Amino acid sequence: MSQAFHELTIKKITRETPSAVSISFDIPESLKSTFSYKSGQYITVKKEVNGEEVRRSYSICSSPYFNEALTIAVKEVENGKMSPILNKEIKEGEVLTVSEPEGNFVLKPKTKYLSLFAGGSGITPIIGLLKQALHEGVKHIHMVYANTKEDEIIFNSELEQLQSQFSDKITIHHFLEENNGGIAAETGRISTEFLAKAKKVRAFRKAEHFICGPGPMMKFVEEQLLQLGIKSDAINLEYFEAPEEELEDTTSGEFSGDAKVKVILDGVTTELTVNEKENILGAMLSAGLDAPYSCQGGVCATCRALVSKGDVYLSQNLGITDGEIDQGYTLTCSSYPRSKEIEINFDEA
Ligand code: FES
Repeated sequence: MSQAFHELTIKKITRETPSAVSISFDIPESLKSTFSYKSGQYITVKKEVNGEEVRRSYSICSSPYFNEALTIAVKEVENGKMSPILNKEIKEGEVLTVSEPEGNFVLKPKTKYLSLFAGGSGITPIIGLLKQALHEGVKHIHMVYANTKEDEIIFNSELEQLQSQFSDKITIHHFLEENNGGIAAETGRISTEFLAKAKKVRAFRKAEHFICGPGPMMKFVEEQLLQLGIKSDAINLEYFEAPEEELEDTTSGEFSGDAKVKVILDGVTTELTVNEKENILGAMLSAGLDAPYSCQGGVCATCRALVSKGDVYLSQNLGITDGEIDQGYTLTCSSYPRSKEIEINFDEA
């Protein structure tokens, strides 16, 4: 299905750190159910920048359980197209074009023990999960939050307040690469020794683990948890960045040239000619189709669709599971034709 966008008025902008703001939206009564969300989900902001349409996904950091306005946090990325505008130019009362909430980085029902890992702006979905867990009476939450330096800690005072209010339930460990001693924090990065020590605690071993932050930090923590015997289905990952390396092309490699690609979107079938070197989402956008997308880098899964006929090569994937790929799903932003005839169905996504 194509992605639905709505105009939302900015209710409040709060400077969280020198390089990050949080932006809260007014949701009109008519859109309240459309914008009901689960902690850990994200929205996509769409904006025209220098004549070009730019879309970026931002995790929701507010909690529906704490009666808060829907809020995202945006860290300014050097040379970014959207984040400098959201950090420095937009004003309260202005309108942004925003997609409906989506994403699967959400708590499983009946979670008893929770382990949260955040790196930098990866705190945005994590703090929402933390609040939901507190609301749902999770028995214990072990949280690790890594930053470069103290003034980059987003939501520092809110976390302090939650920790003192729920001191019997939350343990927060800060890691700072440049530690001036302003807060209780370990110096350096999350380490093998730290995780091995954490694993000695039963609540950590039995926890659902959620990781969000820079790619290398996420990879390190995931690998360490697996080595410590944590099962992969207890590890939940939310990537912000595209993977550095392309996946191996495991298709037969015999196809070259143009493919006939039939695309089914919102009940309408469109036939496109797509070259082996062109990704399917790109071909759809060039043809003027209103395809759903955000990151265009194999991360957010907004462009997920079912390959109901033919073969594609998926070059980048941090957005869908192996199980979904086995069922025939792909990320169209990173899918290249590998057979003469292909059918892609967005309505089955
Ligand atoms: S647009 Fe984000 S994974 Fe394709």
